[in-house]
Amino acid sequence: MKFLSTGSFVPPRRMTNQDFEKIVDTSDQWIVERTGIHARHVAEEETTLTMAMAAAKQAMEGVDPSAICLVLVATFTPDQATPSVASQLQQALGLPEEVLAYDINAACSGFLFALLTAERLLEAMPGKCALLVGAEKVSGRLDYTDRGTCILFGDGAGAAVVQADGRPTWADYGNRSNGSAIYTDEKGLLRMEGRQVYQFAVRTVTQSIRNVLEKAGLEPGQLDHVVCHQANHRIIEAVARHLGAPMELFFENLGEYGNTSAASIPLALDEMHRNGMLKSGQRVLLEGFGSGLSWGSYLFEW
Ligand code: UT7
Repeated sequence: MKFLSTGSFVPPRRMTNQDFEKIVDTSDQWIVERTGIHARHVAEEETTLTMAMAAAKQAMEGVDPSAICLVLVATFTPDQATPSVASQLQQALGLPEEVLAYDINAACSGFLFALLTAERLLEAMPGKCALLVGAEKVSGRLDYTDRGTCILFGDGAGAAVVQADGRPTWADYGNRSNGSAIYTDEKGLLRMEGRQVYQFAVRTVTQSIRNVLEKAGLEPGQLDHVVCHQANHRIIEAVARHLGAPMELFFENLGEYGNTSAASIPLALDEMHRNGMLKSGQRVLLEGFGSGLSWGSYLFEW
């Protein structure tokens, strides 16, 4: 799979841990020690659609719109149930009508699932491209009196245009339905059993990465970059330790953005791309995990 371009957007409003000290019983020290998060960006007038649009426009710069045959938006926080964010993007970006455009709700695994879906569909559409977006306004789903969840999340969007190029890729993915680990309650607010999710993430992500490396016949040290869903520094550190892989392999920007759910992997990829960290031929492993519970690993060459 070839990434032709990337894009991203985060709202300008930045909420620091010190800002949270004023609204819930917490401290900068607790948040940093338990999560590695220092700040997150929070939407004001921005919507999931406007953030998705800003990221997608960047990713579409220099791309021929007629090459796009698929628009997938990973989100669990669409502004409205229907029409889909993807459908509205198709129209607003002036993309051809002959596209498949729909949203994917797999929460924090959403971008990974969109990528896996795109890979299968693009195999049947030679030369065509997919616009993939992860966009979330998680702030609209938070209970700002629940200190165990509200300090973790941020808003934003990331996007990429991808094309099947025949090079081999390797994947591992799954779902283990557990509706009580992360869910929205009757008011639509996000609830989470933090410790349970933490243990699931460390065990399952480590095993999923082992599975995909075994399929590819590679050792962790032969990877160039691992881009995990940016949920928690401690999760990433524990996964690296269990794999026996150096932390330098693992990209992190969660300190600035917190957990942006489906947006976190494309947001990270765009930052890495813009900073020149991604070189042609490098082995990149993407790892999504979260509500479902769901997870997915995807190994490819940049
Ligand atoms: O995309 C996937 C989404 N989810 C995740 O990635 C979350 C995974 N889980 C985690 O990251 C961690 O479980 C948390 C960061 C959410 C919590 O860390 P923890 O070490 O598992 O803490 P805990 O839930 O076991 O709580 C320990 C203590 C409790 O107090 P007591 O009962 O020991 O008195 C909590 O009430 O920390 C308290 N606590 C807080 N204290 C200060 C919980 N949240 C806060 C807070 N500030 N914000």
